[in-house]
Amino acid sequence: TIPVWLDCDPGHDDVFAILLAAHHPSLNLLGITTVHGNSSLANTTANAGSVLEAIGRPDVLVYPGSKKPFSRAAVHAPDIHGYSGLDGTDLLPKASRPPVLDINPILAMRNALLAQPPNTAWLVATGTLTNIGLLFATFPEVADHIRGLSIMGGAVGEGFTDVPMSRLPGEESRIGNTTPWAEFNIYCDPEAAQSILSNPILSPKTTLIALDLTHQVLATVPIQERVLKTTTSQASTASKLRRMLYELLVFFANTYHSRFGMEGPPLHDPLAVAVVLSSLNSDYQQAHPDTVLGFNDKNGERFAVQVVTDGQHGSTTAVTGQLGRTIAKPVEGQGVSIPRAVDNDAFWDLVLLCLERAEQC
Ligand code: BDR
Ligand code: CA
Repeated sequence: TIPVWLDCDPGHDDVFAILLAAHHPSLNLLGITTVHGNSSLANTTANAGSVLEAIGRPDVLVYPGSKKPFSRAAVHAPDIHGYSGLDGTDLLPKASRPPVLDINPILAMRNALLAQPPNTAWLVATGTLTNIGLLFATFPEVADHIRGLSIMGGAVGEGFTDVPMSRLPGEESRIGNTTPWAEFNIYCDPEAAQSILSNPILSPKTTLIALDLTHQVLATVPIQERVLKTTTSQASTASKLRRMLYELLVFFANTYHSRFGMEGPPLHDPLAVAVVLSSLNSDYQQAHPDTVLGFNDKNGERFAVQVVTDGQHGSTTAVTGQLGRTIAKPVEGQGVSIPRAVDNDAFWDLVLLCLERAEQC
């Protein structure tokens, strides 16, 4: 199994990232750090604990990380995730185990990763990159040691895939979801993102799961119903866990619909966990078909990624220049991997497999 550390800001789609990391049989979840982002650090931390409780993994420890970016105020996303970060359900249980406060969270992450054999562990980031930036600035030896860094963040735009971003009335173009240029996780702490994406040791180990990919994986009504009902059960007998996840998806679908007019919200974050499975060798993958997700990076194409850090945060609906934009230029040799496609059916089957395993806990 692949050792994984998850840094997240739950967040409706982060919930599914936690589900995959905690229940995929080929992954071993080492621990979770939380970060400001979709909501305050206090809320994202409480949410992570609740989700672990709900999916039967209260044994996984949660370490509260950064409250705000290095050099800016925190930005949250109540228009998408509600004020709690996980609005839309009353079925979230309270965590039975409090978050860990007696060790620095960045040190906890470093210790857990360095305790794994070299070139085995993955670090997955599904929130803004403040904790990850602090980790590699404080303990640069972790960069050499890990196998990979998977980040949900950024947007490439025009022609990268044939999936257009949904435009708002009056807009000529849009590649981002927070401003016309910027994706939320990168926008919140662009300095942290730039410190990671421009690090020459890290970038060849980095996979960026950009909006261009995540907008291909929409939790449409038929998907929401697959989450609620198994092939043999009906909605009325659905487990509490299925009802909770369904209610979260319905809320997320409604906010995406009112903000972007989209029929089904992109389930961004679990893709950053799923892509880790592509690092398994082909013999193992043949024996374990649930690890084959068809991520397509056009035979290993690589990019130099630059983050625009000029400008100030404005209201999330205002145009604030290109702050937080990720500019990706193809490079020969070493650079960041940005997959362009994924096998949609295989991805949803994977989510459902992990849900079934969670129900058995
Ligand atoms: C990212 O921003 C957050 O709102 C989601 O949880 C996801 O990580 C998508 O832009
Ligand atoms: Ca997130």
